[in-house]
Amino acid sequence: MVGIEGLLNLGQPLHTTVVVTDFDDSDRVVATFRRALGRMPTKLVHLDLSGAGKDGGETKAGDWAIDPAAHGLNQDKVYLSVLALLCRHGSLKAVRQLQETIPRGDCARLELPSVEMGFELSHAMKMADVILSADYGVQDLASDTFFERLALNAPYRVEISTPNGMLLVSGSRPWFQLAGRLVDGESRILPGGEVAYTGSDIEGVFTVTGGLLATPEAPEAAPLARALTRLSRRFEHDPVTMTIADGQVMAFESKGPLAGTLDMLLRGAGYRQVTEVGISFNTACRTLIHDWPASSNEGCPGVHLGLGGDPDPEQEPAKESLVHIDLISPTVLVLVNGKPFMKLA
Ligand SMILES: [Fe+2]
Repeated sequence: MVGIEGLLNLGQPLHTTVVVTDFDDSDRVVATFRRALGRMPTKLVHLDLSGAGKDGGETKAGDWAIDPAAHGLNQDKVYLSVLALLCRHGSLKAVRQLQETIPRGDCARLELPSVEMGFELSHAMKMADVILSADYGVQDLASDTFFERLALNAPYRVEISTPNGMLLVSGSRPWFQLAGRLVDGESRILPGGEVAYTGSDIEGVFTVTGGLLATPEAPEAAPLARALTRLSRRFEHDPVTMTIADGQVMAFESKGPLAGTLDMLLRGAGYRQVTEVGISFNTACRTLIHDWPASSNEGCPGVHLGLGGDPDPEQEPAKESLVHIDLISPTVLVLVNGKPFMKLA
């Protein structure tokens, strides 16, 4: 089902959508959601954190707490779908605390470029547009197909071919669904639209032909993330092949200078471990964006490998690396237990 109707777990008694924003002039973005929700069986509450936690201050509980009486909510009975549009690191804590107060509900966090990465209102408008135009029904079908084929064999074999060879993910560790309709208790990063693996049974080669998405997990990591973002548009002309053994990157190679630059920037040991293999099928993320760190890049149909940071963004960030880098290839053939799942030229 296309659009917000396909994303939200509507039909729950007293469904309420809480849109949380933490930037100035968010009214236009909120109005977009208000229009999209139109006559759907939900009530929209806007929580504006833009005045809280600025100047390095912590966002405090009182800055965001929903006053149930003020919004006519009875927290024991309502189902809250939290849609968080955030550009400040401090706000994440507030959204986590908000989630803890919800007896029933889900939380979808739209990751925007942080202030340190050059956040602009147009970025929020663009990402809101992407999540409002995605087909969540198709995402659920694609995920179902993937998991059906994955269950055909134990241990499973997922073969990912890119121009210079094949990457094999095998074993019995579970894959995660980060796609389709939200369910009670779920917490997800949007736009999403992928199935993902975190583990070390990864062997072979993977060629990055599309670009990258560098997400700093703390403000001090922004300079490295900015340097990486500047490389994104070069992969199309100078694809980088990664050799991977036991989930560790052994080498970056390319015909031009890009592999050397990447290798130099990612010298730290924390960037040698592949922290994520993601197979994306979100057709609303049509094209890769190279000018700013658009979270929609990760959802672009294809496969991405994650290095550094924590693959589970709900956890505290890993200490040794503070940037999560998705290296993206939109030219892939994916076989799941020998059955074709994705073929993109
Ligand atoms: Fe991913």
